Amino acid sequence: MGLKTPTGLAIALLAAAVACGGASRGSGPSPKCRYLPGDAQWPSPSTWNQLNTTVGGRLIAGRPLARSCYNPGVNPAQCAAIKAEWTELDPFLEDPVNVVAPYWQNNTCSPFLGPNGPCALGNLASYAIRVSTPQDAIAGVNFANANNIRLTIKNTGHDFLGRSAGAGSLVLWTHNLKEITFLKSFKTLGYTGPAVRLGAGVQGSDVLPAAKAAGYRVVSGSCPTVGPTGGFTQGGGHSPLSAKYGLAADQVLEFEVVTAAGQHTTASPTKNIDLFWALRGGGGGNYAVVLSMTVKAHKDGPVAGAGFVLLNDGDSDKYWAAITAWLKHLLVLDKIDGYLTGWTITAQAFFLAFAALPDATSVNDITGPLAPFFAELNRLNVTLAQNGAALSSNYADWFATWAGTVEYTTNNALGGRLIPRTVVQRDLTSLVNVFRDIVEISSPEVGGSALNGISLNVSTSRIGLAGIPGANAVLPAWRDALFTLNFGIPFAPDAAWPALKFGQAWINDKQTKLRNVTPGGGTYMNEATFDNPNWKQDYFGANYIPLLAIKAKYDPNGLFWAHAAVGSDLHWRAQADGRLCRPSGFSRN
Ligand SMILES: Cc1cc2nc3c(=O)[nH]c(=O)nc-3n(C[C@H](O)[C@H](O)[C@H](O)COP(=O)(O)OP(=O)(O)OC[C@H]3O[C@@H](n4cnc5c(N)ncnc54)[C@H](O)[C@@H]3O)c2cc1C
Ligand SMILES: *[C@@H]1O[C@H](CO)[C@@H](O)[C@H](O)[C@H]1NC(C)=O
Ligand SMILES: *[C@@H]1O[C@H](CO)[C@@H](O)[C@H](O)[C@H]1NC(C)=O
Ligand SMILES: *[C@@H]1O[C@H](CO)[C@@H](O)[C@H](O)[C@H]1NC(C)=O
Ligand SMILES: *[C@@H]1O[C@H](CO)[C@@H](O)[C@H](O)[C@H]1NC(C)=O
Repeated sequence: MGLKTPTGLAIALLAAAVACGGASRGSGPSPKCRYLPGDAQWPSPSTWNQLNTTVGGRLIAGRPLARSCYNPGVNPAQCAAIKAEWTELDPFLEDPVNVVAPYWQNNTCSPFLGPNGPCALGNLASYAIRVSTPQDAIAGVNFANANNIRLTIKNTGHDFLGRSAGAGSLVLWTHNLKEITFLKSFKTLGYTGPAVRLGAGVQGSDVLPAAKAAGYRVVSGSCPTVGPTGGFTQGGGHSPLSAKYGLAADQVLEFEVVTAAGQHTTASPTKNIDLFWALRGGGGGNYAVVLSMTVKAHKDGPVAGAGFVLLNDGDSDKYWAAITAWLKHLLVLDKIDGYLTGWTITAQAFFLAFAALPDATSVNDITGPLAPFFAELNRLNVTLAQNGAALSSNYADWFATWAGTVEYTTNNALGGRLIPRTVVQRDLTSLVNVFRDIVEISSPEVGGSALNGISLNVSTSRIGLAGIPGANAVLPAWRDALFTLNFGIPFAPDAAWPALKFGQAWINDKQTKLRNVTPGGGTYMNEATFDNPNWKQDYFGANYIPLLAIKAKYDPNGLFWAHAAVGSDLHWRAQADGRLCRPSGFSRN
């Protein structure tokens, strides 16, 4: 059975508590590990059926997306379909348990390994509740508590750290909570004005047209499939609008939550204030289940956009001189209220995918500030392959023209770093050398890599948080960053396990090099790696200690658990088979 329990007695006590319908909380010593399928204590089919009845038939058994590629019961047509879509987001977004990062599948049930290989769930959840009411979420919380099984929360499944999956877990699947309600005047402590309530399953692509129709702009991701209410906002959340209004976490006025104790309540500036603070930047899936959030809505109006493409013509020193000039010029753009850029560097090309300037009155407002950089390119004898700009009459149209044209794939390994302004001011050469090291790959195992930068001034003075130190749990390094950087390598759709392992190790090595030249930089936890040994400092900084106290208050027994989440090392350790076990010395609150 492989179960690590302190004594047989502990199990007997828990089983008794469950049989009586009592919760395990406060009912004697707890087992040292969460139960997994196959354990004698794993809930019986009839226990699952009871849960299914409680949630109105919305309990779904987890199934790997590529199950149809495996015996018994191979379905060639379905298998071909999932093979063709394996690096696209869509099949993962619509599924209750499957998540986009292939690493978490744990080398089982890939559509390319069938039909006689292994097809297991790996790290994916065993069961999902398709949450449609607060009572569904409460039922899931109570069931996981009572039966000592792992609980996870999945919205879109974008999470790079595998935080929306978990071996043997019951997952609360929030994807169908699609409420979008605009409120002309929402009043709370410190704010009176337009707002919008977003259900936990709303995606950026849902918000854009709804906001346009209502005459507003809402801070959602540059990737339209990400879910604002889930990990995006709870982990920080950068948007093309962020240089104007701040991060997504800076917009929140109220959360509707279900706590680890199964209580349906709100977290706001006046109620559960500490939880409200933690949920705004302290990381997804770790403090409470969020059912909806109310965020600021901003008056819509024109947004200017710009972009360019610069090709590496083979003279690499010239190419990198041009990139260096860009990085320096970001210090100029940094001063312009609302000016945000999203750009990519590969060995072959450097391109500005989008610049955004909300409330511009003409195209010149966005191209003018680029002129000194273009003059520098002239001096370097560099010509652009493409260059364009436009003024859109509203944000959704800007999005469709610029950010919406970026293509995303799922099969990749990712690292990231927030780059402080001081590094660009004082040590740009060292930074560019690491960029070159990341991009100019000589390893045959790694096909090609890309650096993606989003430069945005979200300093406390820009976004109106000045004078409110620690206004929310956003990593403080964000406020001093000139840009956030993520870098990654794409995998072939049929990449085998050694390639994925190699990719992860490669990322970690580059991550360390980047860290070494960016002291005090931090890392945006949502665009990061799960096994960074410096995760506490890098992802949470000075907020770690206060967040730990809030975690202890709202979730003393670690019902919620995720990789690189606050308190994760205190509550549980994940074993190789995905089982969560208490670390030695753990004592229950
Ligand atoms: C292709 C791609 C593009 C991206 N683009 C951007 C971008 O433009 N800007 C940006 O800031 N980030 C971006 N990200 C990163 C993104 O913010 C994270 O992946 C984030 O975790 C996604 O949140 P989600 O809720 O959609 O995803 P999920 O993977 O479903 O959830 C992420 C985490 O949040 C938790 N969670 C989800 N819903 C809830 C809830 N209702 N209550 C409590 N916890 C919850 C989950 O348990 C998990 O820990 C991108 C990621 C990808 C893969
Ligand atoms: C839950 O009940 C519904 C409706 O009866 C059924 O369709 C579904 O298969 C059940 N789920 C599980 C996991 O048995
Ligand atoms: C991952 O794969 C290894 C090797 O097959 C296996 O021992 C382990 O149990 C798996 N873990 C999960 C969570 O599937
Ligand atoms: C500028 O570049 C072109 C080709 O890209 C080259 O022919 C020319 O000599 C260069 N001029 C200078 C001054 O370096
Ligand atoms: C960021 O924006 C603020 C407000 O617009 C501005 O005062 C500041 O100079 C900018 N840059 C830095 C480093 O804060």
